[in-house]
Amino acid sequence: MQITKRQLAKLGIAGAAASLVGAPGAFGRAFAADAPLKIGFIVKMPEQAWFINEQTASAAWGAAHGVTVVKLAGSDGEMVMTAIDNLSAQGAKGFVICPPDVKLGPAILARATAQNMKVVSVDDRFLGPDGQPMAEVPHLGMSGYKIGQQVGEALAAEMQHRGWSPADVAACRITDAELPTARERVQGATDALLKHGFLAANIFDAPQRTTDTEGGSNAASPVFARHGNFKKWLIYALNEETVLGGVRASEAFHLPAESVIGIGINGTGAAFAEFSKPQQTGFFGTVGVSSFLHGRQSTINLVNWIRTGTRPPANTETTGVLMTHDNWQAVKAKLEA
Ligand code: GLA
Repeated sequence: MQITKRQLAKLGIAGAAASLVGAPGAFGRAFAADAPLKIGFIVKMPEQAWFINEQTASAAWGAAHGVTVVKLAGSDGEMVMTAIDNLSAQGAKGFVICPPDVKLGPAILARATAQNMKVVSVDDRFLGPDGQPMAEVPHLGMSGYKIGQQVGEALAAEMQHRGWSPADVAACRITDAELPTARERVQGATDALLKHGFLAANIFDAPQRTTDTEGGSNAASPVFARHGNFKKWLIYALNEETVLGGVRASEAFHLPAESVIGIGINGTGAAFAEFSKPQQTGFFGTVGVSSFLHGRQSTINLVNWIRTGTRPPANTETTGVLMTHDNWQAVKAKLEA
């Protein structure tokens, strides 16, 4: 049985309609398809274009389907726990989250379960105490290794296009060893480069502390400082913000744009601003993935789960398309569709 707002109004309890319809078990099927519903969307870096797009797409889909989406920041464990409590106090029935640290997975799931909320992850997948992905938390994210391979293939193709010989070229590989999302993407890129004859000895690691432009620049600078004998460089990482940081560092070391090939991942505002510059910089391209789709589909998965009890797939993997200075506007239009 499903009680609508109108029926409740007839019973003279209009003011209580929303909460009664949302109360589990109060009137048979608790979350009818059209019943108002509140959920959260918590992201680790609320200022990054990728996450802004995800939250925007989630809220837009929600607005069209009777779902209020509360956008929240969760940049560390404490913020995430506060956000979950805050959502619970507002009567939210679940949330989508890109966690600030994947090892927080068990704690986040425990807190959500205790508050009777469902949780799905997006982008960065929870790790269990055994260090393995937590299959019990439905996830949607990039196919990290494959997208990394696309980056490596594109780097190799551009190197060949410029007629660079492997002995003269070094790679600045910026990564976060603690984050599987980063490890997979970077590993895919490395494997593709090696397959194309890139010299393993010319790949230098730049460990990053934060997955943003500043983190990329801080990580890359010491690598350029230590290996000044190389005049041609590739730069790759888990995302375009980090690669942009690497490119900015290469500029500080006076490496000209034509001697640097940086390729990122995401396909959002950070890359578009760079592509919009009249002169191409060392930032050659980025593998674009739809942040809008990530935000929308993770929301749909969660809402269906709450409303119908249908558990989302354990893991949904998305794919990407290479964007460069030449085609970025056309690809952007597709990603935002
Ligand atoms: C990670 C990165 C983000 C973005 C997402 C996409 O969370 O930090 O920049 O690439 O993955 O899945």
